[in-house]
Amino acid sequence: MKRTIVVPASYNGTHVGIIMDGNGRWASARGLPRTAGHRAGVRTARKIVEAATRANVATVTLYAFSSDNWSRPTPEVGALMRLLRRSLLIESKRCVENGVRLSIIGRRDRLPASLVVGIQEAEALTAHGRNLHLRVAIDYSARESIMQAAMLAGNEPMTREKFSRLLAEVNHDPFPIRDVDLLIRTGGEQRLSDFLLWECAYAEFYFTRCMWPEFTEHEFLTALSEFELRERRFGGIPAQAAS
Ligand code: FPP
Repeated sequence: MKRTIVVPASYNGTHVGIIMDGNGRWASARGLPRTAGHRAGVRTARKIVEAATRANVATVTLYAFSSDNWSRPTPEVGALMRLLRRSLLIESKRCVENGVRLSIIGRRDRLPASLVVGIQEAEALTAHGRNLHLRVAIDYSARESIMQAAMLAGNEPMTREKFSRLLAEVNHDPFPIRDVDLLIRTGGEQRLSDFLLWECAYAEFYFTRCMWPEFTEHEFLTALSEFELRERRFGGIPAQAAS
């Protein structure tokens, strides 16, 4: 059965994906436990989401917990799960005030039950937000999602649009996947780490050595203005050469 999904017009602008790397190193450099870095990371996430709303960004996707992060020491994983649960509770109220719709993408079957309930509550509470669509990736693996969507597709004739809908379905995303326009990674590494592989086909990248807890609104706006200057050709030729 074909589902008709209407994406609010306000979500159709720029999509920024963010790999919030460097929390652990930021904390260790200060003699703090890594979890203190994650707590500081949540504060940065809040600031940047507010800045994105002011800058009229349509969609932000934050990489909060990758499927490979389960391999971290059990106490760190436990602390992250509790932090995510608490942050969703607090942040969803701010999201309502700022007209932000919150969706969590990724698997849910391995998350603690209390976090799954928190996700459902946060999504229901913020469902009417139209200023920004904030997607937070938790237990997310792009490769896993693509494989799951391919399994759903079976032998059906496929288009990119149809496949995007299947990907949204496996990720619990309310809307078909939108391409990432700008991908920001903090923490000095220059790789995608299994984040939004399908959606980043034509993304522009902005890598910074800044650790996530120190990433500022100013640098976020710098990344956006650098992005505005990039010439995006999508496999075509420069506009001037075509005329
Ligand atoms: C990467 O730093 C960061 C994470 C694995 C967790 C990030 C999660 C948050 C900031 C929570 C966001 C929550 C909401 C609800 C917005 P790292 O530990 O890999 O740092 P390192 O590379 O220095 O070790």
